[in-house]
Amino acid sequence: MSDVLLEVKNLRTHFQLEEGTLKAVDDVSFTIPRNRTLGVVGESGCGKSVTAQSILQIIPKPGTVSGEILLHRDNGGVIDIGQLDPDGETMREIRGREIAMVFQEPMTAFSPVHTIGNQITEALFVHGERSKAMARQRAVELLDEVGIPAPDRRIDEYPFQLSGGMRQRSMIAMAMILKPRLLIADEPTTALDVTIQAQILRLMKKLQRESGMSIMFITHDLGVIANMADEVAVMYMGKVVEYGSVRQIFKNPQHPYTKGLLRSIPKFGESVGDRLATIDGTVPVPIDPPDICPFSSRCAHFIPGRCDARMPPPTEIEPGHTVNCVLYE
Ligand SMILES: Nc1ncnc2c1ncn2[C@@H]1O[C@H](COP(=O)(O)OP(=O)(O)OP(=O)(O)O)[C@@H](O)[C@H]1O
Ligand SMILES: [Mg+2]
Repeated sequence: MSDVLLEVKNLRTHFQLEEGTLKAVDDVSFTIPRNRTLGVVGESGCGKSVTAQSILQIIPKPGTVSGEILLHRDNGGVIDIGQLDPDGETMREIRGREIAMVFQEPMTAFSPVHTIGNQITEALFVHGERSKAMARQRAVELLDEVGIPAPDRRIDEYPFQLSGGMRQRSMIAMAMILKPRLLIADEPTTALDVTIQAQILRLMKKLQRESGMSIMFITHDLGVIANMADEVAVMYMGKVVEYGSVRQIFKNPQHPYTKGLLRSIPKFGESVGDRLATIDGTVPVPIDPPDICPFSSRCAHFIPGRCDARMPPPTEIEPGHTVNCVLYE
């Protein structure tokens, strides 16, 4: 069996709007090996969620997806998800069984008209559980594992009766039942308090150890990336601008954008007031963006005539560590 689970090549997800073409994801490539975690990091609007939605083929209209999304399946076959009918049977099978997603907004993942317990036990039945009593017991255990208080009572409640944090945790419990090959976690813990967040991150790692699943972990929180990821893709305006192992990105960041992001992490003992040494300016909306370095308008190292001449290609600066920046070409 190949070590690679998912290969994304030249992914482009564009939205045709009245104002022009919004290039939410523009020529993104990466690989996720089995049993590893890819962290995807970048500021709001850089295309993290759209990348995840593209992999699952759940891009809303008027979005169009091109490029290759190659899933290496357990039977040794390779399937290009991008070529599948988004509403077809194969895609539905892949969604859930092979690739599961924990969303940024958990309300959408649950049916509002069934109790949390019914939805979890249903998933258990789909995955082979026969006994109703056993399924219920397992569901209570799962809710307990993700830190839901009084799980034997909560199990009979409807999604709207739970707090946002509890819905988020229930969704993680659901994703765990599915035992996917790839779990895409899109800011799964951002809304939760730090204790619960740490608990859920530990749980996800435990599940990964047990099942060998891969994780694509999306967040703007570099602390969480440092804790969870093996490899890191740094995104900016729909492009990957730097890619490397978690060690390479944290110990030896090269792209001015990555360096800026790392400077914005509060250091231990620093008050919040000291930490706004972030990056000047805001992320532009990528409507008909010129094909140049996307960070050039905010970069302190901007070189006229070079950074705004074309998009810098990836340059490998050490094995497995690439950066798209003219400073390293
Ligand atoms: N359905 C859509 N129609 C049009 N534009 C969209 C759509 N979904 C996302 N976008 C745009 O695509 C770009 C990337 O959005 P995306 O949601 O992927 O960002 P993100 O990195 O996940 O940000 P955040 O950290 O805020 O979740 C943004 O400019 C966004 O406005
Ligand atoms: Mg998002």
